[in-house]
Amino acid sequence: MNSSNAPIGIFDSGIGGLTVLHAVQALLPHENFIYLGDTARLPYGTKSKDTVCQYAFRVTEFLSTQHIKLLVVACNTATAAALPELKAKYPQIPIIGVIEAGARAGAEKTQTKSVAILATEGTVRGMAYQNALELLDKNIKVTALPSPLFVTLAEVGWTSGKLVEDIIKEYLKPIISSIETEKIDTIILGCTHFPVLKKSIENVLGKDIHLVDSAELIAEEVSSVLEDAKLKNLNTSQGHVSYFVTDSPERFVAIGKIFTNRTLDENDVTLIDI
Ligand code: DGL
Repeated sequence: MNSSNAPIGIFDSGIGGLTVLHAVQALLPHENFIYLGDTARLPYGTKSKDTVCQYAFRVTEFLSTQHIKLLVVACNTATAAALPELKAKYPQIPIIGVIEAGARAGAEKTQTKSVAILATEGTVRGMAYQNALELLDKNIKVTALPSPLFVTLAEVGWTSGKLVEDIIKEYLKPIISSIETEKIDTIILGCTHFPVLKKSIENVLGKDIHLVDSAELIAEEVSSVLEDAKLKNLNTSQGHVSYFVTDSPERFVAIGKIFTNRTLDENDVTLIDI
């Protein structure tokens, strides 16, 4: 049975989900967390739906053995590929994906009814954002650009500076030209790795384009699901995070700083084989 003292599970293919963890922790500081980065299988974004589903099942199976009270799939690719399947297989765990919140925020922000999505190939191919936006507002025009290179930039910690901005400018050329022709005013950062590049993307595109990062909305959703289920941790002390990775804990600690703005303690990171 779920208990309010149990941890919240959060997983991503790598370190990108730390942007979501960070936002949830800021809103719910008394909660305990288990974060799993499936670093051995990263990137998910270039893999097929079936493969990503298998990965998501393995990770969720492990997290369920840790008696989590709620799961956040902090990976857009895994949300796009596996969210309904995970919900069906683990009905006892409330499961929150990251796409609906991002789509909602995008739909609310756009004035021109023209939204672009930057995401992995898998997320774009899976049409999850396109479908979610269509459900919210049929009149919204959606332009999607697969941007796997941004995952690599984030994973190696290249997030700012002239070279990074030059790469972004070249890479986003198709979107930059569509901004004029399609009157795009809102771009959804549809990958949990991308918020660390937000400032650099903003420097390239200018402040008139809204860049949507859904982490805070996801945190609010977690809070309200816990509230409704009466599962909020009532302790008043600062919660704890345990980190699990499937490869290279040292790299996770080194790059994780960029995503959380704080030092990760190597003793809190455990290598697992799942
Ligand atoms: N974090 C993943 C996402 O949000 C991208 C990284 C990957 O390709 O595994 O889609």
